[in-house]
Amino acid sequence: MNLILIGAQGSGKGTQAQRLMELLNLKPCASGDLLRKAVADGTPLGQAARPYMDRGDLVPDDLIIAMILEDIAKMNGSKGIILDGFPRNVAQARALDERFAERRQAIDWAVYLDVPRAALLDRLSGRYICQADGHVYNLKTNPPRVRGRCDVDGSPLVQRGDDTPEKIAHRLDIFFTETIRLTDYYAVQGKLLRVDGMGAVDQVTRAILDGVNAAPFDRAVG
Ligand code: AP5
Repeated sequence: MNLILIGAQGSGKGTQAQRLMELLNLKPCASGDLLRKAVADGTPLGQAARPYMDRGDLVPDDLIIAMILEDIAKMNGSKGIILDGFPRNVAQARALDERFAERRQAIDWAVYLDVPRAALLDRLSGRYICQADGHVYNLKTNPPRVRGRCDVDGSPLVQRGDDTPEKIAHRLDIFFTETIRLTDYYAVQGKLLRVDGMGAVDQVTRAILDGVNAAPFDRAVG
């Protein structure tokens, strides 16, 4: 199964991707995580992408498409892929469709996590991620067991540099003018699954699994 998660910043794409990749044995492909690693490693891609990310703008299509297609090429050994943060516009979606067609595969579902804009700022201002692997927490809704430490690997929790109120507002503007058009793109293909992203994290996971017709959730959480 090949899934795309579409959603505004703070809608829970990263949170759900971490759960679904384990439940469905999917290879994760998170554009933001790959870009942040490229920046941290000081690669040519990271150096080129950094100014766009610092402003909260989209990284140019040629850079991001090349990076994602290269990552997808490594997807052997999993049942499929879960894309978090890519595509973000129709040009990126077309490039993805073409690559999957070349591989004689297809995107099965584009899951849209629907969260009203008013709730997003609140979520993002409480978000902390772990330095080692990007595990996501929220001070109000999903706090770590030990303050300031990741439950999974114990590494320090930090706030992202683009989670300031001004940059969040700018990123949301881009989402609600440009990326939201992907819902029409995938609806026309009969692949859009709209999920209410305002429920608790478990409820959202269950709704996605129900929608894509998979059933490992009860077994996984007992
Ligand atoms: P990226 O890292 O993808 O960031 P983003 O799109 O801004 O998305 P977020 O990570 O902010 O939100 P999320 O939906 O993953 O929320 P999360 O699960 O953490 O991209 C960063 C930058 O890279 C972009 O700005 C751009 O410059 C560049 N880029 C990336 N992809 C690109 C592309 N395709 N093209 C061009 N440029 C690209 O959840 C948020 C918070 O809410 C957390 O604290 C979480 O605990 C909490 N939460 C989650 N679910 C729930 C729930 N159900 N109830 C209550 N709280 C919840």
